Amino acid sequence: MKLIFRYLKPYILTVLAIVVLTFVQVQSELLLPDYMSGIVTNGIQYGGIEEETPVALTKKDMDNILIFTEDDNTILSQYELHKANETAIIDDQKIVFNEDVYLLKDKSEIAEMRDPLVYSYMAKQNGLAVSEENKAELISQLNDKLKGLEDNYGSMARIYNKSLYDNVGLSITTIQNNYILSSGLKMLGIAAIGVLVQFISTYLATKTAAKVAAKMRKDVFEKVESFSSSEFSRFSTSSLITRTGNDITKIQQLIQMMLRMMLMSPIMGITAVIKVTRYPNISWLLLVAIGIMICAMIVLAVFAVPKFEVIQKLTDRLNAIMREFLDGMLVIRAFNSQKIEENKFDDINSGLKKTDLFVSSVMNIMIPVMTLVMNGLTVSITWFASKQIDIDAMTIGEMMAFSQYAIHVVMSFMFVTGMFFMVPRSLVSVRRIKEVLDTKNTINDVAEPKVLPEENGVLSFEHVSFRYPGAEESVLEDVSFTADPGQTVAFIGSTGSGKSTIVKLIPRLFDVSSGRISYCGEDIRNVSQKQLHEKIGYATQKAILFSGDIRSNISFGRDVAEEDILKAVKIAQAEDIIKEKDEGLDAPITQGGTNVSGGQKQRISIARALAQDKNIYIFDDTFSALDYETDKRLRKALDELISKTKATVIMVAQRISTIKNADKIIVLDNGKVVGEGKHADLLKNCDIYRQIAYSQLSKEELA
Ligand SMILES: Nc1ncnc2c1ncn2[C@@H]1O[C@H](COP(=O)(O)OP(=O)(O)OP(=O)(O)O)[C@@H](O)[C@H]1O
Ligand SMILES: [Mg+2]
Repeated sequence: MKLIFRYLKPYILTVLAIVVLTFVQVQSELLLPDYMSGIVTNGIQYGGIEEETPVALTKKDMDNILIFTEDDNTILSQYELHKANETAIIDDQKIVFNEDVYLLKDKSEIAEMRDPLVYSYMAKQNGLAVSEENKAELISQLNDKLKGLEDNYGSMARIYNKSLYDNVGLSITTIQNNYILSSGLKMLGIAAIGVLVQFISTYLATKTAAKVAAKMRKDVFEKVESFSSSEFSRFSTSSLITRTGNDITKIQQLIQMMLRMMLMSPIMGITAVIKVTRYPNISWLLLVAIGIMICAMIVLAVFAVPKFEVIQKLTDRLNAIMREFLDGMLVIRAFNSQKIEENKFDDINSGLKKTDLFVSSVMNIMIPVMTLVMNGLTVSITWFASKQIDIDAMTIGEMMAFSQYAIHVVMSFMFVTGMFFMVPRSLVSVRRIKEVLDTKNTINDVAEPKVLPEENGVLSFEHVSFRYPGAEESVLEDVSFTADPGQTVAFIGSTGSGKSTIVKLIPRLFDVSSGRISYCGEDIRNVSQKQLHEKIGYATQKAILFSGDIRSNISFGRDVAEEDILKAVKIAQAEDIIKEKDEGLDAPITQGGTNVSGGQKQRISIARALAQDKNIYIFDDTFSALDYETDKRLRKALDELISKTKATVIMVAQRISTIKNADKIIVLDNGKVVGEGKHADLLKNCDIYRQIAYSQLSKEELA
């Protein structure tokens, strides 16, 4: 998690903006049920009449109402009397009065006239005649009727207003339509704001997540680039590929989810809970629903979640097998071992299928359970709320709003708990990325690297021993030799004797375990890797080409002049490859160099090593893929080159003929130097050399 926060830090302002936008979105979404409730209750039930104090009423009605109050003047002072035949505009309706009408002067200053209004309404409902004379008797009668109905005075007043307005000549339908229309427009406006805000915050979240992922991918790539071979051996290639691809994508999704759902659900849940508590009589239903869901989640946690990890592991293994299969396709075919590979694949594949099916089944049961809970909740809300509506403790609109809030609460709860399952899965990916980023490089530059001189110098191994990281035994033991400028030093020995290992130590692909390697008298560990690499032209044992063309594979990102490329091509005996192709140097090379032969690959990689003037050239067994003639011509050209530049050549070979003329031949056996000298001396003094030589050359050739 820390890693994610570290990467999110530069986007703190965007994140804050998303928080604010999410808040606005939630508020606007949760306002809608209130408006809907208003439309149902005020708009439909009360004909769009919100006010309890009538805005307009005929003088006759007013007189009937005033009978039930002692305080006529306070009420009348708020009204203005208009005579019959006068015209007025009330609520956008133009009316010519048929009789005398009172109009409320100021809507914001409302006269306290609810009680007289209700009494008058009740009298009318019950068809009781009202007059000053029977007032006392009437009031006592009405008191009986109104007992216990105090809570309903407001709605009675509003219902009465409908008939009062009717008497004035106002159209109730118009009032109702106006109310519904204005509420509807407000709802539309709020919904539009919600959608807009949601769009912006989703965009910001997506953008932030994508940016973080890109940065992370770059960091991982750069980190991997700085890895030495020993770090590489810790992570397999396919694992590094999954990490930069799959894992970072998962993190990207996690961030996006964090910035949207993880922020939104709690805000939504809490706001909805606050709204729900306005209806204390039925909010216990929500607790029941959440309780059932917690049980369901526990089932999920116990049965399905542990399997998530199993799936992840099986997928990894499936990938590994698939990769091996693809890499080794040709060999597998040649040895007819498809069946074995298929069986290996089938084992894991069917395991994966079973686990997947199990998890999916558990998850699939969850969906109907959740739907059941939701629908059950809606039904029970309707059931219990209708009882509340019956005793006028709630309106239909409120019930509808409540059930919407309740669903929001339940949904938020579901998302939050869902996150408890999802986040740990994504955190696995975070951990895998962290592992790569936190890997300490074993080969580092010293704080103040020494600078090597321009000129060629002596390369010297002094009692070098080397053990591969994690290996039990040393591969090289006490290897010492020197290579002077202009000299060719060749290594020969059986396979696995440590030849490649020796040359890998020179560009510091690995560091020696003990002893030291120096160039121009300077320990190469005290020189910057960049400078060291600039001095070395290296052709690896396994030629590696990259997708592009021949030219790009030779110049290899360096600033190499055309003539230098051609010169290198000539020495490497690669001219015929280029002549053969219509595009010449621009002939395309596919990924991994699959469209050229092994020998052609070798020569292009030799040309790459030769393209720039270097102090040391290393050829690790690069000549064995060449035929004798080409090998000979190449060596001759190389000799000419170094006799001019006085560079040092380190050459590993299998064939005696390749190294016969070397200035110094070093014979390796099992990581130890068992012979050193020229061809003729070694033939005399070194058993192993003699064995190799006799197995390869005829007596005449050896002479
Ligand atoms: N990355 C590695 N990790 C551990 N051991 C290794 C590694 N690379 C090579 N070895 C071991 O080191 C020994 C020497 O390997 P090396 O590649 O130097 O042999 P070589 O003389 O170049 O052989 P070949 O002629 O087949 O190229 C071998 O026994 C090999 O198993
Ligand atoms: Mg080798």
